[in-house]
Amino acid sequence: MEIGIGLFGLGTVGSGVVKILQENATQITKRTGAHLVVKHAVVHDLTKPRSGFVNDFPITDDPQAILANPAIQIVVEVMGSIDHAYNIIKQALNAKKHVVTANKDLIASRGQELVAIAEENGVDLFFEAAVAGGIPILRTLSTSFTADKISRVAGIINGTSNFILTQMATNHLSYNQALALAQDKGFAEADPTNDVEGFDAAYKLIILANFAFGVQPVMSDLTINGITTLTDADIADANSFGYAVKLLGVAQRVGETKSAISIEVAPQLVPFAHPLATVHNENNAVLVNGESVGEVMLYGPGAGEMPTANSVLSDLTNVATDLALNTPGRPFNSFNQAIDLAKPSQ
Ligand code: NDP
Ligand code: HSE
Repeated sequence: MEIGIGLFGLGTVGSGVVKILQENATQITKRTGAHLVVKHAVVHDLTKPRSGFVNDFPITDDPQAILANPAIQIVVEVMGSIDHAYNIIKQALNAKKHVVTANKDLIASRGQELVAIAEENGVDLFFEAAVAGGIPILRTLSTSFTADKISRVAGIINGTSNFILTQMATNHLSYNQALALAQDKGFAEADPTNDVEGFDAAYKLIILANFAFGVQPVMSDLTINGITTLTDADIADANSFGYAVKLLGVAQRVGETKSAISIEVAPQLVPFAHPLATVHNENNAVLVNGESVGEVMLYGPGAGEMPTANSVLSDLTNVATDLALNTPGRPFNSFNQAIDLAKPSQ
């Protein structure tokens, strides 16, 4: 069967999605039972040159080319921003199209609303790429910890800031040089403020806390500090005492009630012997502590074209498999499943 894809955004992540769909088409069809075809892409600037993939689909700036197209069953939103993306995704869900997005700003801020709209319309809203780029952390949390009680989720969840800190420490680049390199490599957001001020990590931590604890924090519930005030001298001093400086996001249980979760993003001193100190450049790592399992660490590329596109593809192929088999998908979120983990089950 053929499944039509509509793509909002053809930048770093969108281009990677098209490349994988085209280059691995045969394998994807074999494994999903569906032929995934990009029917239309919507961009901001039609004059921009596009390269790296076969341009065999129309590109427009008119969202209706996707939203009103009955041949498109799955919409991929990889534009970024909150308000515009919210409107597009809401319209797509109400048109009974499944949606895959990499947009953590939006999911952390209005994910609950969108999940409810998806449920009302009987379609999926998946967002694996929104947290930790290429690391399959959300699907792992939603499938492998169902029976465990998580006490803490912590880690390095912003690739750009980790890249900057690594380059300052090891290659002695200035902060500005390292940031420019992260932007060149496609790791940074269009406006990198969120990366370096800790807000991007905060959005991701909100989503992680939701999956781990069933809570729905908002940005004002978090303590957030970024890396902009760190100097070369701070990093060199920390190194000389045997510590790496890492921007960590930590969400942990601090009491027995559901709301007793502390959530913080801040630069921290990590002893060189600790596994998080060995996470360099754009790589991310998430430590999950569960009562039964103990500590698990997931490690991998936290940003960048192809790793992030692979996470988008993991969502796309999950939806496609369900469509091809004509079986309803398993929900992949915790927004409507908030539970008080402190209470014993009835
Ligand atoms: P880019 O800036 O590289 O690409 C954004 C794309 O969206 C561009 O093609 C742009 O069009 C298009 N776009 C922007 N605004 C509009 C609009 N109003 N209408 C139509 N099209 C629009 O971003 P990325 O690919 O890096 O990121 C996309 C999303 O993925 C973001 O939500 C980001 O947070 C997330 N993400 C990014 C990762 C990364 O490593 N880069 C990793 C994980 C998530 P045009 O090309 O014409 O400018
Ligand atoms: N700008 C983000 C980062 C992209 O650097 O981590 C991945 O979400």
